[in-house]
Amino acid sequence: MAKKQMDVMDKLVGLCKRRGFIFQSSEIYGGLASCWDYGPLGVELKNNLQQAWWTEMTRRHENIVGLDASILMHPNVWKASGHVDGFVDPLVDCRECRTRFKADQLEDPAAGCPECGGELTEPRLFNLMFKTHIGAVEGDASLIYIRPETAQGIFVDYLSVQSAARLQVPFGIAQVGKAFRNEIKPGNFIFRTCEFEQMEMQFFVKPGTDAEWMAQWKERRLSYYKSLGVREENLRLSEHGPDELAHYAAEAWDVQYRFPFGWQEVEGIHNRTDFDLAAHQRLSGKNMEYIDSGRGERFVPYIIESSSGLNRTMLMFLCDAYREDEVGGEPRTLLALPARVAPVKVAVLPLVKKDGIAEIARGLFEDLQGRWNAFYDQGGAIGRRYRRMDEVGTPFCVTVDYQSKEDRTVTIRDRDSTEQIRVNMDQLRTWLFERLEI
Ligand code: GAP
Repeated sequence: MAKKQMDVMDKLVGLCKRRGFIFQSSEIYGGLASCWDYGPLGVELKNNLQQAWWTEMTRRHENIVGLDASILMHPNVWKASGHVDGFVDPLVDCRECRTRFKADQLEDPAAGCPECGGELTEPRLFNLMFKTHIGAVEGDASLIYIRPETAQGIFVDYLSVQSAARLQVPFGIAQVGKAFRNEIKPGNFIFRTCEFEQMEMQFFVKPGTDAEWMAQWKERRLSYYKSLGVREENLRLSEHGPDELAHYAAEAWDVQYRFPFGWQEVEGIHNRTDFDLAAHQRLSGKNMEYIDSGRGERFVPYIIESSSGLNRTMLMFLCDAYREDEVGGEPRTLLALPARVAPVKVAVLPLVKKDGIAEIARGLFEDLQGRWNAFYDQGGAIGRRYRRMDEVGTPFCVTVDYQSKEDRTVTIRDRDSTEQIRVNMDQLRTWLFERLEI
C-alpha cells in the first residue's frame, strides 16, 4: 500500500477512536484481534446506513418485505447450503514461525514462508464456520453452527413469508443481521472481521427471467450508493471470473469501492439460481415449490441476491468522507459525510454563555433534539467548536449570538463550504428538514 494512503487509514482509525466511532474490543485486556466496538457516533452512523438501506430495499418496493431470522439454525441448513463441505479455505502453516496462510494466495509455495522462509505444511481444508453446542450436553448431537450468512434464514422461511404476506413472484425478502466467519486473514480495520453485519435482500424470480433481473439489480445497487453520496469515481461493478464464483453462484458481480488499500468488494450481487431452495427441498423432504394458482404453474424460484456488509459500507463512507483542508490559515480535518447518514445532524452553539444567550441556544437544542440527533456545545472558542463538529461530520452548526436576542435570527454554518447564513429561528426546523430529509 502506498505510504500516503496508509497514512489516511492510520488517521481514520485514530479519529474513529478519539471521537467515539469505533474502539478496539476488550481493550483493557489487550484487545481481541479484529473485533471492534461501535461507540456513540459509530452507532449513529451505522444505524443511519442501515435505515437508508432498509428504506431503499423495502419501503420503495411494494413486493419486498422484511424478516429477522434466528442466528442459530438447524445444522442441516448448513449441510444443504453447501457450507459444511464447501465453505472452506485451503491453509498452510509455517513450521518455523507458525504463521498461517491461505494456500491459494501464496505467490510461490515452493519458496517457503513469505515471513521467515521456513518450511510450509501441505495445504489442509479449514471450514470458516464457527461451531458451538446447544443445550447442556456437549457432543456431536448438539453441534450447531453460528450463521456465516443471513441468507439461509430467508431461504428456509420463504414460503411462510410468501403466503403470510400474500406475495407473488417476483418478490423479495430483506434482512439485516449479524454473521460470523472464522476469517484466516481478517484486517484493514473493520473491512474484514470475524463478526459483522450483513444487509441482504433475496429476490425470488421465475426461472428464465433471472438474467434480466440480475441486470436490473446490478444497476440499481450501484445507483443506490451514488445517490447516497459516495463519489462516483470511487465506485465500480466488477464481474467474478469462473474460478472466483462462490459454490452457489451461476453469475456474480461485486460493487467495489476504491479503498485506500485498493479496489475491494462492498456488496455481492449473485444469481443463486435454485441452488439453495432445491438443496433444502432434497434434504428436508419438504416441497419448496412456489405455486402460482392464477396461472396454474408451480416451480422452484431462482434467486437474485443483493448482499452487502454494514460495517464495510460504514468504512466506505468514512474513507470517502475523510478530508484535510485549511480554514482561515488553520489546518482542519473534515468528515464530509452526506447529511442523511451523518451521526450528528446539527450542533447548537451559543456564542457566549452569558446575557441569556445560552438559554436561547439550550431551548433551540431541546426543540431540535426531539427530531434529529443534535449536539449542544458551549465550551471553548467558537472556531474550535466548529472544528470539533467538522471532524465528526456534522453538516450544520447553528450559532446563537446577541443579534438573535434582537431579531430571533441565528447563523447556520455549512460544514463543507464554511459559509454562514442567517435564518429566523421559527424557520429553522423547516430549513433543516429540507436539507436533512432527502
Ligand atoms: N449471502 C452471500 C454472501 O454472504 P459474501 O460475498 O460472502 O456473500 C457479502 O458476503 C458481503 O458481506 C460482502 O460484500 C461484505 O460486504 C460482507 N462481508 C463478508 N465477509 C465479511 C467479513 N469477514 N467482514 C466484514 N464484512 C464481510
